[in-house]
Amino acid sequence: MKKNRISRNYRIILSIARIWVVPFISLFFWANSAHAQTAMVNVQSRNPTNLNGNWQVIIDPTGIGDWKQVWQERKPQSKTDFIEYSFEGGPVLKVPGCFNSQMCELTYFEGTVWYKKQFNYSISDGKRLFLHFGAVNYIAEVYLNGQKLGSHEGGFTPFQFEITGKIKEGENSLVVKADNRRVKNGLPGTGYDWFNYGGITRDVELIETGNTCIGDYFIQLKKGSLDTVLGWVQLNGTRSKQDVEIEIPELKLRYKTKTNDDGLARVEFKSESQLWSPGNPKLYQVTVKSNTDFIADTIGFRSIEVQGNQVLLNRKPIFLKAVNIHEENPYRKARAYSTEDVRVLLDAAKELGCNLVRLAHYPHSENMVKEAERMGLMVWDELPVYQHIQFSDSLIPAKLEQMLHEMVGRDKNRCGVVVWSLSNETYPGTPNRNEALIEMTQKCHALDSTRLITHVINTQSYRDNTFDVWDPLYKYSDLVTVNEYIGWYIPWQGKPSETKWNIAFSDKPVFISEFGGEALYGNKNVPTDEACFWSEEYQEQIYKDQTEMFATIPNLCGVCPWLLFDYRSLGRMNQVYQNGYNRKGLMSENGEKKKAWYIIHEYYKKK
Ligand code: GCU
Repeated sequence: MKKNRISRNYRIILSIARIWVVPFISLFFWANSAHAQTAMVNVQSRNPTNLNGNWQVIIDPTGIGDWKQVWQERKPQSKTDFIEYSFEGGPVLKVPGCFNSQMCELTYFEGTVWYKKQFNYSISDGKRLFLHFGAVNYIAEVYLNGQKLGSHEGGFTPFQFEITGKIKEGENSLVVKADNRRVKNGLPGTGYDWFNYGGITRDVELIETGNTCIGDYFIQLKKGSLDTVLGWVQLNGTRSKQDVEIEIPELKLRYKTKTNDDGLARVEFKSESQLWSPGNPKLYQVTVKSNTDFIADTIGFRSIEVQGNQVLLNRKPIFLKAVNIHEENPYRKARAYSTEDVRVLLDAAKELGCNLVRLAHYPHSENMVKEAERMGLMVWDELPVYQHIQFSDSLIPAKLEQMLHEMVGRDKNRCGVVVWSLSNETYPGTPNRNEALIEMTQKCHALDSTRLITHVINTQSYRDNTFDVWDPLYKYSDLVTVNEYIGWYIPWQGKPSETKWNIAFSDKPVFISEFGGEALYGNKNVPTDEACFWSEEYQEQIYKDQTEMFATIPNLCGVCPWLLFDYRSLGRMNQVYQNGYNRKGLMSENGEKKKAWYIIHEYYKKK
């Protein structure tokens, strides 16, 4: 009895936190962090000045640039003075874009590249100015006109600095240290199965706002509702008490409210909108106005929930026909970022017959999330909490919280995002792993109760053709999410059609988030029944067996082959068949469809 009362009280506290405490915390992150701030939402709608293009660089393999303080850009002060660094006379790199793909000397580089951008600016009176980065992998140190603005850790989420009063009228010099060395207590840690693309990998923009602007907002359907929008608008600046108006012209809807003393306005209104779905990816022009600011967004409305052992989209059961995607344009052999890059990946997912893309294993660019939503592809957004994480390290909790805020903060108004995945293949035996990830799950729920939350697990056992699936995190996850490679890393132990399953939390939907095996496209005249020859036929057989096994899985709500394209991963060192590529793609890095592609294509057509 006592336990029920506690859980009921816990639920009450959580629901209050959801609406009121959360935006306040995000404002705190935004306004007070000594490091970079949590970025404002929907930057593209603020008519930003982008600083993209050619940046001068100093390549600093020994990391001596810090000691030389290159950001000061000193010049000789006398006839006997000389300076042993300069941006002048050095190489130029394109921003955005990983540095690995721009200079052969940087192909495998893990270290520091100093970037410099000279730019002119003239700020209008009474305006504020923010410097916004879409992402820098992995650690960024940012200097403006020789003064340090701050730093940011994390290679896949946006951050910003307020530079009001720090920008000069006329010419300014921005220096960014980008260091892509892997970090033992990082997210991810030092070991991961993808290419470590470094540098300023996404847009750099200047955003000008009024003294009190709309810093953040959350506008989505209330959990479990098809016609009620629930959310909030958070102002940033001194004038806290203002009128707020949300307008959706196509619905002839105009909702008015007011902010409280903290600049926060609660939002709740009825909305008879067309619901977003893969078959009808309907998005509405939505404007958010305050007395001193105005922002336009394109927002869709849909409901995603788990009911019993099913996933419901807009209250109808849906089978998640997914595919894994890394953020790499296979043709450019580079970190993907542009709309053209993401269309390469998303068009291929559509052609395969998917209705969901799992953005492995880190938040992809905002272009990817927005384009997927426009194309009617649901999105699985994932944090780089990947395998070996030092959960006992004292700095990890703050890093986990920061990246959670940055991922949810950026994408919370994207109805296409239906899953927040908070970890991939971490291990129950790692000290403090369960505690840290359970806490993360609760924080994610408090930030956003409208989406599914999960952890990807591969600790199941497979013996006597029977899976025993259990992990402490499943209790806190909306899905039982399983990575399994039967037929590749682990041979079958019986007929796929006779596979048995013992699944703890058997009332939850089960999602197979990774499966597959490797093949080199066009690899002919080799034995097709031996894994070590990387034949397409061997991979094809894995897919035939896996799709047969899927019929044995109770509560199966979706599957997600690993993965769409062959992609670069330097640990894949078989120099006959891999050559630095993970060859589990259904397509080669040249876009050639392997035999296995047709198995999944056929399977999805029948779903
Ligand atoms: C793991 C992991 C992937 C990895 C894959 C593989 O399950 O999640 O990141 O690339 O297996 O071994 O290819």
